[in-house]
Amino acid sequence: MSNRKLRGAMIGGGYNSFIGPVHRMAGTLDGLAEFVGGVFSADPQRSREFGKTLFLDPQRVHGSVEELIRHEAALPEDQRIDFVTICTPNDSHYHAVCASLEAGFHVICDKPVTRTLAEAQDLVERVEKSDRFFGLTHNYTGYPMVREAKHLVGQGALGTIHKVVVEYAQGWLAPLLSNTDTAANPWRMDPARVGAACTMGDIGTHGENLLRFVTGLETEALCADLRACIPSNPLDDDGSILLRFKGGAHGVLIASQVSTGEENRINLRVYGSKAGLFWSQENPNYLELRDLDGTATVLSKGGPRLSPVATGAGRLPAGHPDGFIEAFANIYRDCFRGIAGEPVDVPGIADGLAGMQFIETVVASGRSEQKWTPWVSSR
Ligand SMILES: NC(=O)c1ccc[n+]([C@@H]2O[C@H](COP(=O)([O-])OP(=O)(O)OC[C@H]3O[C@@H](n4cnc5c(N)ncnc54)[C@H](O)[C@@H]3O)[C@@H](O)[C@H]2O)c1
Repeated sequence: MSNRKLRGAMIGGGYNSFIGPVHRMAGTLDGLAEFVGGVFSADPQRSREFGKTLFLDPQRVHGSVEELIRHEAALPEDQRIDFVTICTPNDSHYHAVCASLEAGFHVICDKPVTRTLAEAQDLVERVEKSDRFFGLTHNYTGYPMVREAKHLVGQGALGTIHKVVVEYAQGWLAPLLSNTDTAANPWRMDPARVGAACTMGDIGTHGENLLRFVTGLETEALCADLRACIPSNPLDDDGSILLRFKGGAHGVLIASQVSTGEENRINLRVYGSKAGLFWSQENPNYLELRDLDGTATVLSKGGPRLSPVATGAGRLPAGHPDGFIEAFANIYRDCFRGIAGEPVDVPGIADGLAGMQFIETVVASGRSEQKWTPWVSSR
């Protein structure tokens, strides 16, 4: 590890931001880093006002990405930031990543990595050439029991995987179902800001990443049924996808933000020739395994039978719950270790590219008559 705290700046995460405060909590939970500055709004005055609420040095709170990068790059090395966290809406990720890498800063970026596939493809090359660390906050991969699930699949405990089911159901957009007011559109329904998909980009990409992280399966082709249930939404808010993986396994991915009454129901089921597993984000400290005869074993976070990878990701003894912030902090801790040059298993630019390929393929399939659509090629 580094012999001092890392210094970071945040782009996004200002007033009313959902995920910005989570990044601040998760990034500092282990005492390995501090956020010393940032750009917290596209409006320079609001950015500076928000910086005051965080008690930041006003000199390090800026009105634009250019100003932030120029100022930090000019500081002596022992004061300069090490990394930038990007948690703005999708349309500004690409520019912020490019500027940060060019100035030599490591990057931690929220998903989806960009607004378009072309931008993601370009970023792959930039990250490869930069020699900087790039982490993508697909935070569900930070849960100890998700890491245990991956470990068990990798050890062959489930046998050969033949079926994967991942579901991400939210209901927070359901109140807009009977709303015909187009002004009700948040940025997540504006293609110019969010990209080609609303729900499939916002939470479908989490589902795709989670199933790939745990099983290692790569999608070969998919068949998507997408729709907008909200009258003013030009994109998707509800979708069901059939997946075919390389090697022969099949899967189902459901992502919906109009699942009335649902909170954050992320469920993952993996079925193999020897056993099946079930994990649910709303009860994240437990992982259920089922044998061929249906006998269930429930593994718990902090419990005695876990692999070192899951034990190391847990923070408290069994029965004291670890939650969203702790899992997010595991991603940050791994990113910081990656910055320090250690090998880490944390989502990166390849996962960002896969997420954008997923969106592109899903949207193409959703529009096509033929439906079954091959995964769009890498580069
Ligand atoms: N990993 C997760 O679980 C997770 C959860 C939610 C959102 N996200 C992702 O995080 C990003 C932000 O989502 P959110 O829900 O926090 O959005 P939000 O609309 O709640 O907040 C966005 C914040 O960014 C600021 N901002 C907007 N444009 C900016 C710019 N050009 N420069 C600086 N600041 C700017 C806004 O003022 C606001 O404070 C999105 O890419 C989203 O997909 C990830």
